Amino acid sequence: MNEQEMVFPFGKNWDQFVRKALNDERIQISRRHILAFLEMPDLKGKSFIDVGCGSGLSSRAALDAGARKIVSFDSDPDSVKTAERVRAMSGNPPHWTILCGSVLDEGFISSLERGDIVYAWGVLHHTGRMWNAIEYASRLVGDRGVLYLALYTTSPRSDYWVRVKKRYNRASAARKRIMEAAYSIRHTLVPELLRGRNPRSFIRNYRGVRGMSYLTDIRDWLGGWPYEDARIEDVVRFCRKKLDLELINIKTGEANTEYLFRRRVAGG
Ligand SMILES: C[S@@+](CC[C@H](N)C(=O)[O-])C[C@H]1O[C@@H](n2cnc3c(N)ncnc32)[C@H](O)[C@@H]1O
Repeated sequence: MNEQEMVFPFGKNWDQFVRKALNDERIQISRRHILAFLEMPDLKGKSFIDVGCGSGLSSRAALDAGARKIVSFDSDPDSVKTAERVRAMSGNPPHWTILCGSVLDEGFISSLERGDIVYAWGVLHHTGRMWNAIEYASRLVGDRGVLYLALYTTSPRSDYWVRVKKRYNRASAARKRIMEAAYSIRHTLVPELLRGRNPRSFIRNYRGVRGMSYLTDIRDWLGGWPYEDARIEDVVRFCRKKLDLELINIKTGEANTEYLFRRRVAGG
């Protein structure tokens, strides 16, 4: 399989997550995470566009936060089916729409109404054309809207991870399980033991990270392809100079950096 043909089946991983792990506690953690970064008490009166919605967890959290309108889309039909199941579990609210579409499809993007909060968490670096994807996502931001992004940050280990991800995607199912176990030993078990902590507590408490599940995230991290990353200063400069967006919040994490941009106000 060559690199161009390689695509990680994100939707299948999300399907497993929803079947095995989604519950109200995770939805509330996700809701709190989103509101905290937006520095908003709720989303009442706001429209929310979930670009690359994956499982639909964040959209579900936006629903709980009182969003007036939610539009979720993903290019992977399995992600779309999974998000539709989550919407069905929430009573199919009429103000939540789920679509199959790509952020790289300019026709599709221009068919959507612009929103107050455009949310693309961990998505645009998996499109194969990250900078185009940032630009197209930004077109969805309404006049007083914000763009909430999470993007992988370039690190000295970036090249190493690119090699690991390629190896993982080409591996047999059995070999993938071995790589997941090896990752877990190297990046959780050993470091936690060295810190004198119980690795099981780390795994149990992992839901505190945006309501996610440990195993879903390991598979997503090892498999997530296409893959790109960016230096924080390049993202901020690109958004300011090319898209006229100003940074209003930022949070660095282990692999992802969260950015919150808003349209620059004329004369501001
Ligand atoms: C790592 S997951 C993140 C899912 C979700 N945003 C979250 O925070 O859990 C990346 C998602 O982006 C989707 N995706 C990748 N390329 C896309 C594209 N061109 N347009 C829309 N979605 C895309 C994948 O199918 C996958 O569901």
